[in-house]
Amino acid sequence: MTAASFPATRLRRTRVSAWSRALVAETVLTPSDLIWPLFIADGSGVEEPIATLPGVSRWSVDRLVERAREARDLGIPCVALFPNTPRELRTEDGREALNADNLICRAIRAVKDAVPEVGVLTDVALDPYTADGHDGITDDCGYVLNDETSKILVDQALVQARAGADIVAPSDMMDGRVGAIRQGLEREGYCNVQIMAYAAKYASAFYGPFRDAVGSKGLLKGDKKSYQMDPRNGGEALREVALDIAEGADHVMVKPGLAYLDIVRRVKEQFEVPVFAYQVSGEYAMIEAAAAAGAGDRNALILETLTAFKRAGCAGVLTYHAPVAARLLRDG
Ligand code: PBG
Repeated sequence: MTAASFPATRLRRTRVSAWSRALVAETVLTPSDLIWPLFIADGSGVEEPIATLPGVSRWSVDRLVERAREARDLGIPCVALFPNTPRELRTEDGREALNADNLICRAIRAVKDAVPEVGVLTDVALDPYTADGHDGITDDCGYVLNDETSKILVDQALVQARAGADIVAPSDMMDGRVGAIRQGLEREGYCNVQIMAYAAKYASAFYGPFRDAVGSKGLLKGDKKSYQMDPRNGGEALREVALDIAEGADHVMVKPGLAYLDIVRRVKEQFEVPVFAYQVSGEYAMIEAAAAAGAGDRNALILETLTAFKRAGCAGVLTYHAPVAARLLRDG
């Protein structure tokens, strides 16, 4: 491709007016691109603000249902649910994850009863349930056991599917768990429950506020580097994605988001599969802190970063800014 030279070509011509910029825009962000992650607290009538995530709260199941209605009214197609399991129910083996009446299952049922038209995505991993905050069960040396954990994750996914989850999203990074979960779902007749694999999930410093929100921060022993990916690796992400697709994932996710848009682009170019990114808690907090410090306009920062995900190739984005962004998009 050869570009005609100046002044035949003046790239600024199409930028003069808003109508013209709209006409040539290559990327469109709409509320239907957003998945809204929500934290759940025990009890009723409860809203618990999360200090490290200003503007984000944990909601008891009854108040969570109001948020799901809000999502529907704003055109947000899907919510992602994360429970803050009461401390006394966290054990070495994370068995509360398999309780068909646990907080997440009660939340799934309530949301699906009240607002069936909103999709419900649930996290498959043991960190809200284990005493040491790891995503799986550990041996005596603190190593997270792969195959043993994977078996439990299958049961966890089934418990969530029975409660009505539309998408199960394994976020644990065990090898082979997507295939195991897919087989489990097929075996029990949940052939239309989708799997969104956290395929390229990095051991990141951006997850801090999330661990506050689900109450695993003070508990976490060590780090998650023996299962989550090394931020130095890109090619390995493609191997992770290829495996998860082969094992039966319907969508793949890259996480965190902004610092990993190169991975989104590479995945999108190599595989014909919907790619999602998780704009994680630390990214949300960073934008809020920048805005609070007067370093940037909050609304503009939110829309610019979310648009960047779409431009990089995302089908959609998990973001705590979902309701704010949807309102901004609606109100122009
Ligand atoms: C846990 C999980 C994490 C997030 C989503 N699921 C944290 C972790 O792996 O420690 C992070 C989300 C966020 O930071 O917003 N399996």
